[in-house]
Amino acid sequence: MEYLEFAVDLARSAGDVLKHYMDRDKQVELKGRANLVTVADKESEALIINGIRERYPSHAILAEESGTSGPSAAGKGKWIIDPLDGTTNFAHQYPFFCVSIAFEQEGQISCGAVYDPWRDEMFSAARGRGAFVNGERITVSDVQGLGSALIMTGFPYGFRDKIQTVLAQFAAFLIESQAVRRGGSAALDMCYVALGRVDGFWEMDLYPWDTAAGLVILEEAGGKVTDFSGNRFSIYGKEMVASNRSIHEEMLRVLKKLG
Ligand code: IPD
Ligand code: CA
Ligand code: CA
Repeated sequence: MEYLEFAVDLARSAGDVLKHYMDRDKQVELKGRANLVTVADKESEALIINGIRERYPSHAILAEESGTSGPSAAGKGKWIIDPLDGTTNFAHQYPFFCVSIAFEQEGQISCGAVYDPWRDEMFSAARGRGAFVNGERITVSDVQGLGSALIMTGFPYGFRDKIQTVLAQFAAFLIESQAVRRGGSAALDMCYVALGRVDGFWEMDLYPWDTAAGLVILEEAGGKVTDFSGNRFSIYGKEMVASNRSIHEEMLRVLKKLG
């Protein structure tokens, strides 16, 4: 619990940085064709990394903007950080973004915090101890059947190179589910499944910092998380299907039919 409390405190402080820049000059730069980074991503990440270095100098760090740092071996544990998940939303003042901080020990995510500073919602979980939003226990929805389900997805930055696949998946889920939403923050999308606001989520090109904290939160809320073939999800893999469990097999069947 010590690590979780630390992650929660850091995520809240980093969230304050994001909120501060919401109505200020964000100094938007391009990392790729449509992949943005702002001064808030950088300041949030610096705050988190400095906090970890000060408190746990023997821990390894993997952060989106600065990559790996700290001791090269992750024997004492590794922090996995997305300082701002939903940068495109943030740059456009669209209020759906968060900070994501997870701790990995012996190859397993042991705890994680995802903070939405706009709604002041702190999602948190430690392995074996349940998932929470602002201290209240959360569980996935009990929606049965994909036809009654609200599903979320995200499009990878490189979607232009795989547009046919992205559109085929989107079309198939549009037809089979009740409705599909595209949030723009994979970590929050996962937390929305954990909270039962939506019933499922899929995406094809994710990174460890997008998924690490959301994974433990979603699993602790009773959700199921796999790759597109139904194998247990690894944060170092790319594809994710996440659900309230009940609709999982149907979601996998939709993707399987597309080959
Ligand atoms: C992105 C968001 C988006 C997802 C992309 C991610 P970023 O992260 O989570 O929803 O579709 O795959 O890269 O760049 O805003 O941290
Ligand atoms: Ca991200
Ligand atoms: Ca990010």
